[in-house]
Amino acid sequence: MKIKVGVIFGGVTVEHEVSIISAVQAMNHLNKEKYDIYPIYVAKDRTWYTGKMLMDIDIYRDFETLKKYAKKVVLYNHNGAFRLQALNLFRTVVADLDIVLPVVHGNNMEDGTIQGYLEMVGVPYVGSNVLGSSLGQDKVIMKQVFQSLNLPVVDYTWFFDNEYFEEKEEILKKIKKIGYPVIVKPASLGSSVGITFVKDSEGIENAIEEAIKYDTKIVVEKAVENLVEVNCSVLGNYVNQQTSTLEEVMSTAEFLTYQDKYLSGGKGKLGSKGSKGMAGASRIIPARLDEKTTEKVKEIAKEAFKALNLSGVCRIDFLIDGKTKKMYINEPNTIPGSLSFYLWEKTDKSYEQLLDEMITLAIKQYKLRHQKTFSFDTNILSNFGGSKGVKGKLGKL
Ligand SMILES: Nc1ncnc2c1ncn2[C@@H]1O[C@H](COP(=O)(O)OP(=O)(O)O)[C@@H](O)[C@H]1O
Ligand SMILES: [Mg+2]
Repeated sequence: MKIKVGVIFGGVTVEHEVSIISAVQAMNHLNKEKYDIYPIYVAKDRTWYTGKMLMDIDIYRDFETLKKYAKKVVLYNHNGAFRLQALNLFRTVVADLDIVLPVVHGNNMEDGTIQGYLEMVGVPYVGSNVLGSSLGQDKVIMKQVFQSLNLPVVDYTWFFDNEYFEEKEEILKKIKKIGYPVIVKPASLGSSVGITFVKDSEGIENAIEEAIKYDTKIVVEKAVENLVEVNCSVLGNYVNQQTSTLEEVMSTAEFLTYQDKYLSGGKGKLGSKGSKGMAGASRIIPARLDEKTTEKVKEIAKEAFKALNLSGVCRIDFLIDGKTKKMYINEPNTIPGSLSFYLWEKTDKSYEQLLDEMITLAIKQYKLRHQKTFSFDTNILSNFGGSKGVKGKLGKL
C-alpha cells in the first residue's frame, strides 16, 4: 500500500510564493510508486485547498481558476485518523493521511506554527519540531543558544520597537560600539525582507524604521567584511547528522537580496515557468574553500543543528571573512528553499532519495517519541481533595 503524504505549503508569510515553488518541486520528485500525494495549499486568506492540479505551478498564476476547481479542506483528528476532509455539503473524505510534509517558508508557518497545528492533530510530520522551528526563526534567540555553546556568531545588539522609540540614543550608542558597517534586520523574517546594509551612522535610523515595519524585534549585526557566504545542508536528527557538499552563494549587491535569491533564476514574476526558487540563485558548488575550512564548516553546521534540536533537512548558513578566514553562523533555515535538493544531488543522493530519507526519518522519530510516556492513564487530578490533597500529592511527584 502506498503511503499517503499531505504536502502543506503557502500560508500567510512573506515567503508564500517561494513556498509554492519549493512545494511543487518536491511534489514532482516524490516517488509516485511509493507515495500518494495530497497537495494542501494554504492560500493567503488562510483557506486550505486540495486537488491534483495544485501540483502544477501554472495554476497559481490565476487564483480564480484555482478557487473554482480545488476543494476547500480541513485537516483534523477523526477518531485517531488524520483526516483531510472537504468543506462541501457532503463533507467528502479526501484521505486519511499517513504523514505530512510541510514545505513552508517564513514566519507564521515555518516558525513552529504549522508544526504546532500538526502536533495538535497528532499526525506524523517531516522536519523539525515546534521548538526547533521557532528557535530557527528568531535571529536573536538562535544567537543566544549558539553563544551558550561557544558556537561563533557575529557581534550584535537587539531591541524591541518600543525601546527604540523610548531610548533611541542608548540604542544608537550600542550600535556605534559594535562598529559600522552594520546590518539591520527584523528578528524573525526571511528572504532578506526588511534587511538593510548600513555603511555609517547616517543611514541607521532609516534602516531601523524599515525593519520596524516588519517586526517588533530588531537585530543589528556587525557586517562581516570581505564576505564569503557559504551554506551547508544537514540531514538527520539529534542522533545522527549527515552534511552536504557546501555551496558558495554569490550576491550582486552588498548582500544577498530577495531579488538575488529568487528572481534571478526565472523570467519576471515568481511562479512563472522559468522560476527555479532557491535552486536558481547563482552559486558555486562546491564552495571554493580549502579542505580544512570545509570540514570546520561542516562540524559547526552539525553542532548548530544539534543545538537547536533540528530534524529532517535543514540548511545552516555561514558568513566568512575571506581575509581573516573567521567564520560565523548566520542562521539555520529549518525548511530551506528547494529543500536544499541541489546540494544533496552534488553530495550523494537524488532529490527522490532525499525525500525518501526525510520521510523515513520522520516515521522513525514519530515512533520513538511515542515510546516515551507523555500521558498518564490515571487521572491524578481525580485524587486531589482540596489544598491539602494537592500538597500531599505534589510532594510525592
Ligand atoms: N552580519 C552580516 N554581515 C554581512 N552580510 C550579512 C550579515 N548578515 C546578513 N548578511 C547578508 O544579508 C543576507 C540576508 O541575511 P539573513 O540573516 O540571512 O536573512 P534572511 O533570513 O532574510 O535570509 C545574507 O545572505 C547576507 O548576504
Ligand atoms: Mg538567510
